[in-house]
Amino acid sequence: MQSWIPLIPDSASTFSWKVDALYFYLSGVTVFFTLLISAVLIFFTIRYRRRSPYEIPRPIAGSHKLETLWTVIPFVISMTMFGWGAQLYFEQYKPPPNAIEVYVVGKQWMWKLQHATGQREINELHVPVGRKIKLIMTSEDVIHDVFIPAFRTKADVVPGRYTTLWFEATKPGKYHLFCAEYCGMNHSGMTGSVYVMEAREFDNWLSGNVGNVTPAAAGQQLYQTLGCASCHGANGEGGRGPTLVGLFGRQTPLEGGQSVRADEAYIKESILNPQAKIVAGFQPIMPTFQGQVSEDQIIQLIAFIKSLPGGTASPGASPAAGTPAQSPAASGSPTQNIR
Ligand code: CUA
Repeated sequence: MQSWIPLIPDSASTFSWKVDALYFYLSGVTVFFTLLISAVLIFFTIRYRRRSPYEIPRPIAGSHKLETLWTVIPFVISMTMFGWGAQLYFEQYKPPPNAIEVYVVGKQWMWKLQHATGQREINELHVPVGRKIKLIMTSEDVIHDVFIPAFRTKADVVPGRYTTLWFEATKPGKYHLFCAEYCGMNHSGMTGSVYVMEAREFDNWLSGNVGNVTPAAAGQQLYQTLGCASCHGANGEGGRGPTLVGLFGRQTPLEGGQSVRADEAYIKESILNPQAKIVAGFQPIMPTFQGQVSEDQIIQLIAFIKSLPGGTASPGASPAAGTPAQSPAASGSPTQNIR
């Protein structure tokens, strides 16, 4: 799909026109000064050329006024570029809290995607128009990069950590999805399509893909088979590990006085490298699950932990998430049970 300017990809997200505006501004400033300087250069070359071989040029005295002028003007212009760019950057890289989440795993050389409702896709992403979509991305092998030119958005997909990207599509259609990080022999073939659909069409598509297990349900299954529950009981029974109810999104106190926000990266680290951050009041006894769970399974476990009451869906709403100050009754119980 092309827009009316052949060199510019289609514009189909809420911030694509903002990126374009900034781009045109940068290009405009560049073109303006290139022309201005070229014209002045040519004019001065002719106007002040040496007219006779014995001509001695007039000495030039400095001018504070001129110096100030050509320092202040470029400074102001470059600050508008910085301010505008920074504002756009923060808007793009801070996903809104109410977005629909889609998990993305990159590997040589394909994209594996899964919706929170369970539907899986390979090299294709179906999304409804006019809704905020958040991609939670990681890689199974090397660094890849999700690039959707029509949405003017792009982010690295890095092994061992989660990166996010969000967009809101404004126009139904089919758009390119590229890998924008050289990742080996078939990098150029690591492409896909984003299908933006009307809400009703998208619902049809979703219901046509029933029978899928949601990541959260698969995670719950895994939680049982891996024996997580024997230490991380729902109500702190077992007592060997902190309960995971209401954990997600909360600030968690650690041994040594620091604290950490329980996000995707923290949970993943705790599964693969449990000794890295020990929750206050607990012993470093958890074994690593490195090599026993795939990226997909880690995502499922995270989805399950997120789905537990008190997670991001309703921060602070669950009694488990309440601080002792808010719920004096709970403060009597061992803090291990809550944290
Ligand atoms: Cu994956 Cu390039």
